Amino acid sequence: MAVYPSKRLRRLRYNPIIRDMVRETHINKSDLIYPLFVVHGENVKNEIKSMPGVYQMSVDVAVKECQEVASMGIPAVLLFGIPEHKDEQGSEAYDPNGIIQKAIRAIKAEVKNLLVITDVCLCEYTSHGHCGLLNGEEVLNDETVSLLAKEAVSHAEAGADIIAPSDMMDGRILAIRKALDYKGFTKIPIMSYAAKYASGFYGPFRDAAESTPAFGDRRSHQMDVANAEEALREVEADIEEGADMVMVKPAGAYLDILYRVKETFGMPTAAYQVSGEYSLIKAASKMGWIDEERVMMESLTAIKRAGADMIITYFAKDAVKVLERNK
Ligand code: PBG
Repeated sequence: MAVYPSKRLRRLRYNPIIRDMVRETHINKSDLIYPLFVVHGENVKNEIKSMPGVYQMSVDVAVKECQEVASMGIPAVLLFGIPEHKDEQGSEAYDPNGIIQKAIRAIKAEVKNLLVITDVCLCEYTSHGHCGLLNGEEVLNDETVSLLAKEAVSHAEAGADIIAPSDMMDGRILAIRKALDYKGFTKIPIMSYAAKYASGFYGPFRDAAESTPAFGDRRSHQMDVANAEEALREVEADIEEGADMVMVKPAGAYLDILYRVKETFGMPTAAYQVSGEYSLIKAASKMGWIDEERVMMESLTAIKRAGADMIITYFAKDAVKVLERNK
């Protein structure tokens, strides 16, 4: 009978070679997606205070960064734009000469072997910092969805490879799919931020994207932290509407959701290790309280183990360095 003392699970742990041999989860550089923040100007590289090692970059600097990212073997970047002028309609989001459209064109012209994924939302572009059009303090759904479809088409026209709507309005995937198809972009996949929670972990991102809402919060469209069944309904709706890939966000505190989404739908599934997850690890390591590299790799491994096929992470470059060293 295989019980102790004949059964000893430690047998497979006594040396690194055997541990390698039985390891179940592997992070590959091809799993990683690197987020980038693009601003107007030239030769701009502003470090984000709450995210050491992450920068707002002008297009010229972002192109160089993308060349490095591609040369490291990271397959994709996720672009966020910070506009010059914000207004109530978030007009720069769908302006053919907006910051993101310029960045896409430059990166696609100058960098080979790199997918450009674009975040589709209005919050970086609106003067009030909300994810859509407002009526008083209400974020309007259907009116916002029309603008998101317009934004997605303008990203595709600029050359984006994958469109990633992060707004959490109802019906946006269907509207974006229809608009893309109508304009002939039938081959452009949609990676939907399908289960996106109203999370405190986005704090540092809002410094990076300058998108803190002027009043209120995002709880009328992002999901309640306490809900899991609802996440499955959100993901199902997005798949029915035409999402090609789905995302769970944040990652680390939502591994149960990630696991259930992957198990239930078996879709290509991304997880976003968000700004706050990054900053917590960075800050604790700066204090000397944790080993940064070890906790970084542990957090990424846990996300992969839970079911992620792709991980969007500010650690992408650092993780590739570790993977290359340990080859
Ligand atoms: C919205 C968007 C946000 C993030 C990605 N897309 C912010 C928000 O919903 O408030 C957060 C990413 C992060 O925290 O790293 N455009």
